[in-house]
Amino acid sequence: MPVTKASPELLDLLNQAIAREIQVSIQYMWQHVMWSGVKAFAVKDELKSVAIEEMKHAEAIAERLFYLGETPTTKPTPIFKGGSLKEMIEADMKAEEEAIVMYKQIIELAMKEGDETTAHMFREILSDEEDHHDTFESILEEV
Ligand SMILES: [Fe+2]
Ligand SMILES: [Fe+2]
Repeated sequence: MPVTKASPELLDLLNQAIAREIQVSIQYMWQHVMWSGVKAFAVKDELKSVAIEEMKHAEAIAERLFYLGETPTTKPTPIFKGGSLKEMIEADMKAEEEAIVMYKQIIELAMKEGDETTAHMFREILSDEEDHHDTFESILEEV
C-alpha cells in the first residue's frame, strides 16, 4: 500500500487529467500530420514537440495514479480535428486554458490532502501548459 493516500475525488481528477493529456497528444499529432501549406509549415514542428510533451504528461500522471492504487484510463476526451488552421489553434488554446484551470484545482486539492508529490508534479506540468498556451497564442497572431 502506498504511504500517501488520495481521496476518490483526487483520483478521479487525475484520471480526467490523463484523458485530457491523451486527447491533446493525439489532437496535436494529428494536426502536425495533416496540416499543409506555407502557413502550416512554420507551425508543424512546434505542434510536434508540444504533442510529445503532452504524451509525457499523460505517462507521468498515469504512473502517479497507478502508484496511488487506481487504474489509469486509456480513453481520451473528445478530440477536436478539422476546420481551418485558425479554428484548430483556437481549439488548442481553449484546451490549454481548461487544463490550466483543472491543474490548479488538482494542486489545491493535493495540498489539502498532504500529497506534496502530486502537487509538485502538477506545478511542473502547469508551467508547461502555460508555455503551450503562450505558443498557441503567438501562432494565432500569425494565422
Ligand atoms: Fe499536458
Ligand atoms: Fe499542453
